[in-house]
Amino acid sequence: MAFSTIILAAGRGTRMKTSLPKVLHPVAGQPMISRVVRAAQLAGAEEVRTVVGYGEALVRKVLEPLEVSCHLQKEQLGTADAVKSAQPENMEGTILILNGDHPLITPGLLKSVLGEFNESQADFAVVTAKLKEPGDFGRIVRHKGELKAIVEARDASHDTLEIKEVNTGIYCVKAEVLNTYLPRIKNFNAKKEYYFTDILSLCQEGGEKVVAILGHRDLSFGVNSQWELAKATKTVFLRKAKALMDEGVVIIDPATTYIEDTVQVGPASVIYPNVFLRGGTRLGSFCVVESNSFLSDAVLADMVQVKASTYIERSVLNEKATVGPFARLRPETEIGTEAHVGNFVEMKKVKFGDRSKAGHLTYLGDASVGNDTNIGCGTITCNYAVDRKKYKTSIGNNVFVGSDTQFVAPVSVGDHAVVASGSTITKNVPSFGLAVARSKQYVKENYVKPPEEKSSSNSGDSKKK
Ligand code: UD1
Ligand code: CA
Repeated sequence: MAFSTIILAAGRGTRMKTSLPKVLHPVAGQPMISRVVRAAQLAGAEEVRTVVGYGEALVRKVLEPLEVSCHLQKEQLGTADAVKSAQPENMEGTILILNGDHPLITPGLLKSVLGEFNESQADFAVVTAKLKEPGDFGRIVRHKGELKAIVEARDASHDTLEIKEVNTGIYCVKAEVLNTYLPRIKNFNAKKEYYFTDILSLCQEGGEKVVAILGHRDLSFGVNSQWELAKATKTVFLRKAKALMDEGVVIIDPATTYIEDTVQVGPASVIYPNVFLRGGTRLGSFCVVESNSFLSDAVLADMVQVKASTYIERSVLNEKATVGPFARLRPETEIGTEAHVGNFVEMKKVKFGDRSKAGHLTYLGDASVGNDTNIGCGTITCNYAVDRKKYKTSIGNNVFVGSDTQFVAPVSVGDHAVVASGSTITKNVPSFGLAVARSKQYVKENYVKPPEEKSSSNSGDSKKK
């Protein structure tokens, strides 16, 4: 079914108590407004128009890559004025109107609303919800079952406030109908604002067919405070965990697992509590990610193990690699098949070969390490020189690097070479060679006086006892 969308996003969101425009607050890693835009687009919107105002420049920046148009509402004179700012006079067909601060909206829920609107052959529909605690929502006022008006909580009488059926802020309307009644909305109310909600009674009086569509409760969930933002975030993370579990991913405690919707995880992978998987992260099958690990744009092949408290950004880990606990892989690092990166190891821009090992306390930056190489404990690449430039260290296959070695880059080590423990390597080491770059051991015998022998009377005392 063809339709276009207008998304209202000009409000500041005073109750968020931050200077960031409300619709830019992230829900599980994505600004709320992006979620609403994506939902409309995936539901099949032919065109998405957004209304921006507060924090316009910032909001535009986020919206720019999303293929939507931005329309400026100069002053926030209310939701009707916001809709007007989207210039609906040059729109046709069905228009779906959404609030930018309802981040739990999904394409599926929108499709079902549009389907009902189509079937009803109505001119205007308001999507409603029935809430036990209707709070600040606009109330749906009916007379003998027939829709009469939407009344804002702040303008409502005691009796009206008792109504549990509320306005979700989502509407379907035919473009001609919208353009007939929108200009007739007045601002005679508590806030002196132009309320879009007044269109319902105007349509009713004008003899248009008006219906209410009872929507899923997620459609009504709007974010107005930090508390509601956290609730929305929780819901989105739980939805993702559920979807992955339905595909065979083992999530020990979905309530404390934070996987963004963009992430992919293969079946039989195990995710421990308190793990963050972000952005373009992709895990194969039979992987394990232990607690307190944070993976952002990490690509893991099958059977990769990430042990506790590991931080990985924009890196690739090949099959059966193991990293951590307490490892840090910085961008542009690739760990080979069956390679091992142990505790307190940091790597940046490193190509680390198959079956190679760096087990403990090591920093490798701007380096390449071949296959089957052992990097001893405490190895450091000195990649940053006094000229403030970065230099490369290149280490071959089957190399043995003893503990506590520094490579002063640029420097290279050939295949099968051995670097003695405690060396500071400043010159290239040839294949099959040995490099020792440390001072010779000096030994002085009898340097320490031996302790005096204990007196015999002491031993006699102990015997008496
Ligand atoms: C609105 C509805 C209310 C409904 C509720 C659902 C009106 C008058 N009231 O109330 O019936 O129950 O949504 O969440 O419509 N906006 C603009 N420009 C403006 C004013 C608002 O773009 O001048 C945008 C806001 O950024 C927001 C949306 O419109 O995305 C809703 O505005 P908000 O002030 O949050 O309306 P509510 O008081 O929640
Ligand atoms: Ca709202």
